[in-house]
Amino acid sequence: MNAATGRAVGGPGGRASGKDEFPHLFSPITIGQVRVPNRFVVPALTTNFAEHDGAVGDRLLEYLRQRFEGGFGLVITENIGVHPSGRVMPRMVMAHEDRFVDGLRRLAQEVRGSGGVLFGQLSHAGRQTRSTITGQSLVAASAIPCPLNREMPRALETEEIGGMEQAFVQAARRLAEAGFDGVEIHAAHGYLVGGFLSRYSNIRTDEYGGSLENRMRFLLNIVAGIKQAAGSGFPVSVRISAREFVDQGLDLPEARDIAKALAAAGVNALSVSVGVYESFNRLSMITGEQEGRWLELAGDLRREAAPMPVIGVGRIKRPEVAEAALAEGLIDLAAFGRASIADPGLPLKVRQGRSDDIDWCLGCNICLGRSSRPESICPVNPAVGRERDFQVQPSAHPTRINIMGSSFSALTAAWIAARRGHDVSIDPAGTPLGGMQYWRSRVPGQEEYGEVIVALERRARRAGVRFQSGEVADDAVVWRVRCYQPLNQDLLDAHPDATTVYQVLAALRVPEAGRRVLVHGADLASVEAAILMQSRGCRVRLLVPARDVGLDAHPGYREACRVLLAETGAEVFLESGAEISEQTMRWADALVIGHGSIARYDDQSAWTDFTAPGNGDRCLADAYEPGLMTRGIYAAADMVLEFGNEKSIGTTE
Ligand SMILES: Cc1cc2nc3c(=O)[nH]c(=O)nc-3n(C[C@H](O)[C@H](O)[C@H](O)COP(=O)(O)O)c2cc1C
Ligand code: SF4
Repeated sequence: MNAATGRAVGGPGGRASGKDEFPHLFSPITIGQVRVPNRFVVPALTTNFAEHDGAVGDRLLEYLRQRFEGGFGLVITENIGVHPSGRVMPRMVMAHEDRFVDGLRRLAQEVRGSGGVLFGQLSHAGRQTRSTITGQSLVAASAIPCPLNREMPRALETEEIGGMEQAFVQAARRLAEAGFDGVEIHAAHGYLVGGFLSRYSNIRTDEYGGSLENRMRFLLNIVAGIKQAAGSGFPVSVRISAREFVDQGLDLPEARDIAKALAAAGVNALSVSVGVYESFNRLSMITGEQEGRWLELAGDLRREAAPMPVIGVGRIKRPEVAEAALAEGLIDLAAFGRASIADPGLPLKVRQGRSDDIDWCLGCNICLGRSSRPESICPVNPAVGRERDFQVQPSAHPTRINIMGSSFSALTAAWIAARRGHDVSIDPAGTPLGGMQYWRSRVPGQEEYGEVIVALERRARRAGVRFQSGEVADDAVVWRVRCYQPLNQDLLDAHPDATTVYQVLAALRVPEAGRRVLVHGADLASVEAAILMQSRGCRVRLLVPARDVGLDAHPGYREACRVLLAETGAEVFLESGAEISEQTMRWADALVIGHGSIARYDDQSAWTDFTAPGNGDRCLADAYEPGLMTRGIYAAADMVLEFGNEKSIGTTE
């Protein structure tokens, strides 16, 4: 049973129509001598779920078990640290000492089920971490700080490099001893090995720098060392960034030579990714980006790397995208990264012809911020990170529940409650389904939010939730949605005729095309209201009382906001001040007000008024920014799992 969905998975009862529709995805393949039962791959995805000392514990085990149960043929663990100086998350899995083998063995023995294949990704973050996480100074190919983390690393001495190669080799040996099916060397994304490969981060003058041959030395020595220590029958995959999208960074011509060299070195699979931290939005593309955008790159390298199987990645969500790339010969395996976080049961649903039951990844990248927000990770899958505790069990006290409002939290609460046997109805209370995320789905580039609304509604209906407006039964418990709408109250008081960004997004008050509109705000809602109006023919000036736009959003989103604002032609004025001068006002026909700084979720004045009348009644949240929305969804899920229980379930940590 899948704890997240509460549905039976696999087994002879499942329809097999997906197998006929997606013959390539469901055909086996061998990597080295290891048979992978299908082409669905979970690529390395840092979870931050290890124990405090870096050992594997139950939390990670359950997380990975669900991905195997969901039908992924090859699961590559998150990056596993080969040396303390390369730790990238406070709770990263480590393998730099023999004492970690027991936990890793548990992982290898307990989660694979029948037929699934487990690889461990070996990694050192190089300069792309912080000494506050590693507890020691950073090391890298050269003493050049990562432009994002901005901490100066120390260039490894030539004599030290052999020791670092051995750290990878010994970690691989430990994984082989623990019973892993293979390893992947993380040579992508600007981490230590990738940093050696690229002129962007390697300006060494010894035998590890300069020519590509020299820059590949570190990686090739690691490969050779692992082959020797773990045996040639132990598969080794390598992940590289085929393009880094930075000055002096790796690009196709050199990536082709790397692929050729790896094939010649006996590497068993090549995973083709892109990007470094500085170009993160290419690496983990956000909402609205083309699915499978980098598969052509993988196809290019596949020709060089033959006969090595190639794993393609890059916003693959739909099985159709993966199947087409497999059929065209661009890739041999398809990595569903965030798609596997959002729905661990994706392959099984496809196999059973239930693709319309998939919980689609939004590309919101909240999962990337999990070290800073460990309590809520994915808005479409509130089971992430607490798979073991997230049990949708029948309630001992079935209750009639009426939900007023239809935010993501409301829809999530509804399907969970209905699965628990409660009699649930939703009254959207005159608003479109999806609440604030419906508004969002109307902003150019954010249409995928609409897809999730459809999926959530379908899920709720299948669980037995009724959608109806009108009278509430006398004995019904009422759960109401409260909206979180932070606004600059001082400006609203000073300009009583102004519109709010939420009124614009909800299409309640949108200035006509051709009007000159001033938007004042530093939050995501202000940015997206500006984009919406500009794309509908208004002339928009966005006044930002801060150094950047969309302060409450993930950094990747902020970058996308800047690009979209520029593309639509909206003018942006950073550090514009908290007030609006008369001269600035004279230019405008209309004023739209958002929030001036980082929104504080616990700021009570930002919530719509609501008086809870007691008697089992509850509040559910709605918020515009994805991180805040996710908090609301996790809280809703927790509330429903506890509702009517005598005993509460455990929490995340
Ligand atoms: C939360 C998160 C953690 C990640 N951790 C790793 C990692 O440990 N190693 C790695 O090579 N890539 C990592 N990546 C990159 C993914 O493996 C993948 O290449 C990227 O997300 C693009 O694939 P997708 O669009 O299918 O998600 C991570 C991405 C995310 C979103
Ligand atoms: S948090 Fe967002 S990006 Fe990450 S898996 Fe979930 S929906 Fe996708």
